Amino acid sequence: MSEPQNSTFRPRIFSGIQPSGGLTLGNYLGALKRFAALQGGEAETIYCVVDLHAITVWQDPEQLKTRIREAAAAFMAAGVDPAKSVLFNQSQVSAHAEMAWLFNTVARVGWMYRMTQFKDKAGKNSENASLGLLAYPALMAADILTYQATAVPVGEDQKQHLELTRDIAAKFNHDYGVEHFPITQPLIEGVATRVMSLRDGSKKMSKSDPSDASRINLTDDADTIAQKIRKARTDADPLPGSAEGLKDRPEARNLVNIYAALSDESVDQVLARYEGQGFGTFKPALAEVAVASMAPITKAMSDYMADPAEIDRVLADGADRAEAIARPILNRTKDIMGLLRTR
Ligand code: TYM
Repeated sequence: MSEPQNSTFRPRIFSGIQPSGGLTLGNYLGALKRFAALQGGEAETIYCVVDLHAITVWQDPEQLKTRIREAAAAFMAAGVDPAKSVLFNQSQVSAHAEMAWLFNTVARVGWMYRMTQFKDKAGKNSENASLGLLAYPALMAADILTYQATAVPVGEDQKQHLELTRDIAAKFNHDYGVEHFPITQPLIEGVATRVMSLRDGSKKMSKSDPSDASRINLTDDADTIAQKIRKARTDADPLPGSAEGLKDRPEARNLVNIYAALSDESVDQVLARYEGQGFGTFKPALAEVAVASMAPITKAMSDYMADPAEIDRVLADGADRAEAIARPILNRTKDIMGLLRTR
């Protein structure tokens, strides 16, 4: 059967972030900043704090509630406007979990074992990982396809999960002879799709890295940001005149990419200005750009967090709006599968 044409689906963007600990500059540049930029275009935008994903590894229940609100605050601080986008937390819309179960019957066990994120997170003792950690990508596919989302902005590390989402959609459509789910486009764009650790240019910047110096947290103050950039690992060479010259210099490339992403310039534009300069000049310039862009976000986040009742109100409203889109699509999916609905 031919692939469904995404033009038969209304343009809709969906993406999510886990509330499993402090968010980083990687989350901001790879995801949040782009979520904000995608608002107000042709596509409806739906953004989700994916709390059901977070509990696939142990979360302290008291802390988790705060982290869910913090993630919602980060979305808004980065410019996601609940008047322009649907913003909610996943566990309040039960269609996600229901659709995930339906997809557990479509996806194959082998697909799940091949996921590099599962291998990384489960580590050597994978027999002891939660079943949810293994089934995680089916829930992610459910998040996306419960809205028949046509495009999903994410960082590079989520590419494999999006391929699996497409496989689930295609297998469902094929098995039931329908064109019910779109073959969702990943939007992995820009210079910051993979922000690297400040301590090791071969590792992704991550909230789970044991070294706090490896990342910039969205809650870091200006001095901490400047200090982390000053101490970032680099090489001794001056900066080249074009992106090509950064090919084998992962740490240097990372800092230049971060600069370009923060200042909305191309890498070549940044290098045109700093060609021939060393990191003694470039790092303070980067620190200045980083502080100027991040300080207002940190401030807005703490302002939002000062009024948790308002965050809860936004999330409740978002959940109602999400539910109104998701429920009919879930019901239609059940009908296609032959499940009896009598009310
Ligand atoms: P999560 O919570 O790990 O990360 C959220 C988003 O941030 C991006 N990101 C990065 N981008 C660039 N450089 C980095 N160092 C970096 N670190 C993180 C991620 O690529 C992601 O876009 N499985 C997803 C959450 C999810 C989801 C979804 C996403 C659940 N359901 C449906 C899209 C659609 C995750 O764990 O992201």
